[in-house]
Amino acid sequence: MEKRIQIAIDGPAGAGKSTIAKIVAENLSFTYIDTGAMYRAVTHKAMQQNIKLDDAAALESMLRSTNITLKPSSKGQLIFVDNVDVSDAIRSNEVTANVSQVAAHANIREILVAMQQQLAANGGVVMDGRDIATHVLKDAELKIFMSASVEERARRRFADNESRGIKSSIERLREEISLRDKLDSEREASPLIQAEDALFLDTTELTINAAANAILKLAKEKM
Ligand code: DC
Repeated sequence: MEKRIQIAIDGPAGAGKSTIAKIVAENLSFTYIDTGAMYRAVTHKAMQQNIKLDDAAALESMLRSTNITLKPSSKGQLIFVDNVDVSDAIRSNEVTANVSQVAAHANIREILVAMQQQLAANGGVVMDGRDIATHVLKDAELKIFMSASVEERARRRFADNESRGIKSSIERLREEISLRDKLDSEREASPLIQAEDALFLDTTELTINAAANAILKLAKEKM
């Protein structure tokens, strides 16, 4: 019987993680878990409640009384906060601009990481984020660090926004992506870095299918 392994995919915003992870999960009949959506959900709720995003204690007390659930659907992973579907709301420019600040709090990370570990405990998961291989799933059988040039990542976010009806400018996206890269990789709590045992995959010149196939091939070897 094939082993239901854990696949960890890390990398900066716009590297193609979620699109590719979803295809890999679907092919293997695994569960796809988008951990960025969890940090976004916390940010979204805090903004709605006018909680200061630099107030780690207030954020923690909000999070402790918040119910976050992930549900797979034909459209990919849906995320519910206190039983309300916030899957689209968490993609707004406002949440995107503020999420790095929330994700930098060690106490918030600790709570979300525990949830992520529980979700992955039985294997059969493809989980993407920034610290999955280095921290959340240190024993994952397959670890991928995915990246692409800032230029290409800005182009992808632009197209993604267009398809969601969100207006944006490539120039601004490039600046936002560079800033988020900096915040995510220079923060003290679980910064974005490639795990020693992770394989580097540059998707700048790869099609989505080529990248997914490369990971599927590696996954099948491990299974
Ligand atoms: O992948 P994304 O753009 O949806 O992630 C949103 C933010 O959450 C991103 O700025 C970094 C943070 N994040 C994190 O710190 N750790 C994770 N495992 C996933 C996301």
